[in-house]
Amino acid sequence: MTSMIGVDLGTTYCKLARLAATGRPEDIANDLGFSSTPTAVLFTGAGEVIFGQEAFNAAILEPKGFVAGWKREIGNPQWRFRAPDGKEHSAGDLMTLALSRLLAYAEQRIGERVTHVVLSIPANYRDEQRREMLAAGRAAGVTVISLIHEPTAAALAYAMEKKPGRKVLIYDLGGGTFDATLLQVEADRVEVLATEGIARCGGNDLLAALEGHCLDLFEREHGYRPTPEQHPAFCQDLRLACERGKLALSSRQETTISAGLNGKALIAKVSRDAFESLARPIIAPTIATCASVLKAGGARWADVDVVLVGGASRTPLVKAIIQQASGKPPLADVDPDHAVARGNAIEAALRLKELGEATTADGVEVLPPSVAKIDVCAHDLGCFAINQRTGRLQCAVIIPRNTPIPTERSDVFGLLEPGQTIANVVVVQGEEGAVPEACHVIGEVTLPLQPNGPAERRVKVAYRYDPDGIVHVVAEDTHSKKQATIDLATNGAGSAAS
Ligand SMILES: Nc1ncnc2c1ncn2[C@@H]1O[C@H](COP(=O)(O)OP(=O)(O)OP(=O)(O)O)[C@@H](O)[C@H]1O
Ligand SMILES: [Mg+2]
Repeated sequence: MTSMIGVDLGTTYCKLARLAATGRPEDIANDLGFSSTPTAVLFTGAGEVIFGQEAFNAAILEPKGFVAGWKREIGNPQWRFRAPDGKEHSAGDLMTLALSRLLAYAEQRIGERVTHVVLSIPANYRDEQRREMLAAGRAAGVTVISLIHEPTAAALAYAMEKKPGRKVLIYDLGGGTFDATLLQVEADRVEVLATEGIARCGGNDLLAALEGHCLDLFEREHGYRPTPEQHPAFCQDLRLACERGKLALSSRQETTISAGLNGKALIAKVSRDAFESLARPIIAPTIATCASVLKAGGARWADVDVVLVGGASRTPLVKAIIQQASGKPPLADVDPDHAVARGNAIEAALRLKELGEATTADGVEVLPPSVAKIDVCAHDLGCFAINQRTGRLQCAVIIPRNTPIPTERSDVFGLLEPGQTIANVVVVQGEEGAVPEACHVIGEVTLPLQPNGPAERRVKVAYRYDPDGIVHVVAEDTHSKKQATIDLATNGAGSAAS
């Protein structure tokens, strides 16, 4: 039997959902009975590995063993967290650990083994970040049947709740990332028209700004600035106090943040106005991103309903600047915390149906909603080629951003010289005509060529984006038909095949 759940591995909180026997998504609570679990781990000196709320509670005692916020490091091969026992953990390892614990909560709640999951990811995740999330799922012992963009998942949840026939702009400001996604929502179809994100923009940045402000005050009063290296317990304490203060400022006009270090006290009165001066430079760029998404999707503010998703979208300044830009208040039509996990649960049932398998809950077959999802790729995908006019190396786009996925496109390139014995296809995310420094290389494939082939010989480069947004590449000698392929889903190196 296939038992599946939707998992939203957020930067700050993880949420789980499944499709209940009623056919509607329902949240799955953790071991403490809460439907959100902090994305945090504490490696204790005694060798215990604590996940979730308890990791936060106990962190102050062993701050060096505490880690959170690693989602932002997914895809960064250099990043490691060194636990007190000296063992190093990559961001993917920590995701696997989190996912394993979450699966255990879910199995406890629903009373059966979970075999399949849908994971959500920020729409702007690059290829290697997608691969790392798939690998984290595999390592946790489950089949990841789909990777879905977080705002698209939220839109699926929205589509189940709301009247169809609307253009919707999902404004998703979570703990770590911002995504703006324009969708057409119909009764039987959720179609993404355009998407764009800011990789490092969320509640964590608002928190960091408030912490910086408090540290400034401490320094002014006491003549030095505590650092996490020298004063880990104080910094951890201050962070928790600032997080509480930040949340309080969403409902109150003023709050007091206090923390102490070696008998020296910090007591900071922070007004909402003062907080908004710190928050504005972080939040303002999200409006520019929304405007760019609207332009790419051929819509104006007046054409769309703005739907808020993500916990940080509760910040009053967010609502104010959206209202200012769009001329009307945003809608709080979906639960900002749980919409993504619920959408993941819907996507799981849809994917199982595609695979000809039934979704069950409590031993009963669940009828998935009859809605189709059409998503897009979030990046321009191309390869390096010499511009014949300028003689310079630049990006030639093969699949433009916002192309509906899955998709397959190809282009044909000439050789540099007739005696060439290899053609190197460097697969990049980058805009048309961008110089190499402005592109992000995601892989490379080397196609061996027979020297001195016919003058009309070319190299055909074909890209396929699969439904998870993973790229598959084929380079082909148009004369010999010899091919080299690179499956970026499973490895980073090209392999030649004839
Ligand atoms: N009432 C509130 N006012 C302001 N911020 C809030 C409020 N409630 C939650 N937040 C912030 O929302 C963030 C968590 O939101 P959410 O759970 O949607 O993020 P996430 O899914 O963990 O992150 P991401 O989607 O970016 O990976 C935290 O930074 C938290 O401080
Ligand atoms: Mg989120």
